[in-house]
Amino acid sequence: MSRGYNFSAGPAALPTEVLQRIGEELPEWGDTGASVMEISHRSAAFIALAEEAERDLRDLLAVPPNYRVLFLSGGATQHFAQLPMNLAAPGQAADYVLSGHWGEKAFAQARHHCTARVAASSAEAGFVRIPPRSEWQLDASAAYVHFTSNETIHGVQFHDVPEVGDVPLVADMSSDILSRPLDVSRFGVIYASAQKNIGASGLSLMIVREDLLARCPETIAPIFRYAAFADSGSMPNTPNTFGWYVAALVFKWLQRQGGLVAMAERNAAKAALLYEVIDASDGWYRNPVEPVSRSLMNVPFTLHDAALDGTFLAEAKAAGLLALKGHRAVGGMRASIYNAMPLEGVAALVDFMRDFARRHG
Ligand SMILES: Cc1ncc(COP(=O)(O)O)c(C=O)c1O
Repeated sequence: MSRGYNFSAGPAALPTEVLQRIGEELPEWGDTGASVMEISHRSAAFIALAEEAERDLRDLLAVPPNYRVLFLSGGATQHFAQLPMNLAAPGQAADYVLSGHWGEKAFAQARHHCTARVAASSAEAGFVRIPPRSEWQLDASAAYVHFTSNETIHGVQFHDVPEVGDVPLVADMSSDILSRPLDVSRFGVIYASAQKNIGASGLSLMIVREDLLARCPETIAPIFRYAAFADSGSMPNTPNTFGWYVAALVFKWLQRQGGLVAMAERNAAKAALLYEVIDASDGWYRNPVEPVSRSLMNVPFTLHDAALDGTFLAEAKAAGLLALKGHRAVGGMRASIYNAMPLEGVAALVDFMRDFARRHG
């Protein structure tokens, strides 16, 4: 089978150019005479890669100087637990805003360490909208306010940074980081798993305001302290060197695309194509999310007759449109259209959807 358009939610499609480059230099990286997977993380060549990756990321997101960039092992789920360990004293309050599945997961992990509170939730409405800011009940003494900027399963996305006063804002941006420009200075911590817009799974990126690193209680073992990563170039132990290398290539690719302003324009155009076909289908296809909260990264949709789901997926796959099955929590389909999905891929999906509805109408 040749390479199709991959709508997987994660691990997700990577830019073809990046994959080709990895293929070319896998046996021998630069002038090291070895694979990037086979050299020391303390070698001059790898340290140069790590430093350049950080510079490129800072450049892409205009990260202010008082923020540290960390490349951490493990996925965002690990940081659901590790963040409260670092930012909150045991038993201290932390506010969680729930707009979907991943916010709930973050909240559940945090409860093991601090007094996590639900400050707002759209669970009752079935996670089809962002809870309106006017309904949030924030605790001014909370260690931080946590939210999920894009809910990968429910297809719900924040399109503005919420105002929360002096309490540090912490965002899980696993499924929309690098998809648009961002005012980093509005946040205490931004973190993301790599397997959507950054690279390969098993790596997380964190951007953390420097002063917050000092909050970690002495009782937390050094390997779980973010300060230990900040103090050692993210290398208190052997990092995920291959994942870091892939991320570095993706950052270069993003720069060649014109940076995040260009990505945001392209992502908006892709999402508009998909929502247009859904909304113009007279209920043949449906997306349940309130229009102002719709995600530009993950578009869940159902067919008017769920009995056609299997045929839709089989025909889509035969047409080279891959991984469109929705998450079991919401059913139906989901098209994940992260940075690496070209406009042509979405255009091919939209043509297929129109044709499928006509043939099975
Ligand atoms: C928004 C969001 N947060 C967290 C996670 C969990 O990431 P991981 O499985 O890498 O821990 C995911 C995974 O898809 C996600 O989409």
